[in-house]
Amino acid sequence: MTHTCPFHQSAEMNPALMPLDWLLGVWESDEPGEGSFPSIPPFRYNETLHFSHVGQPVINFMFNAFNAENKKPMHRECGFIRMQPGTNRVAFIIAQNSGLVEVEEGLLTGQQLTLHTHALARTSFAKEPHVQQISRVFQLRPDGKLEQTVSMAMEGGPLIQHLHITYCRSALPQGGTI
Ligand code: HEM
Repeated sequence: MTHTCPFHQSAEMNPALMPLDWLLGVWESDEPGEGSFPSIPPFRYNETLHFSHVGQPVINFMFNAFNAENKKPMHRECGFIRMQPGTNRVAFIIAQNSGLVEVEEGLLTGQQLTLHTHALARTSFAKEPHVQQISRVFQLRPDGKLEQTVSMAMEGGPLIQHLHITYCRSALPQGGTI
């Protein structure tokens, strides 16, 4: 028997989320994303993004990445998106499977989100070198694809691009159209 959550099914979108309604639903990478990190050869990955809400002025999200060649799970992150009421300021509150937790903040401009690390913490036994700054851009392109670019700076190092990927929408949000 399928169990459905009645709150999730019937929740009306909170008006505070209207500026971000274009994110809601499920997105799948249309072709493998490209990743790079100085100590390893460039790599390719697939990723699925889920953005949902339960009627609160908050978007819940889950990003799951997989190795494009052998399909093994790789990076995973999940969290919440909030907007400061009456402004275009956006905050992502994020937990990553690598042991990093983060608050990224930035601005919504049209259908583009530009975010930078506002706060960062990690497990006491996290691998070195430690990342100090993460910047990312989400953009809904005119062709309907979503694009994400992630850059980061390690301790004492420059900002380097870590990831670039595009996604196609694979499911609409609960309850129909956007
Ligand atoms: C915003 C999200 C992400 C952040 C902040 C991030 C951060 C980092 C950092 C700090 C490192 C170097 C230290 C370490 O190995 O842990 C790293 C390495 C790496 N990341 Fe990411 N990452 C993110 C997303 C992803 C995603 C989506 C993938 C896709 C598969 C990915 C794949 C990798 C790989 C393959 C390495 C090299 C690992 C190694 O040397 O063992 N990362 N990342």
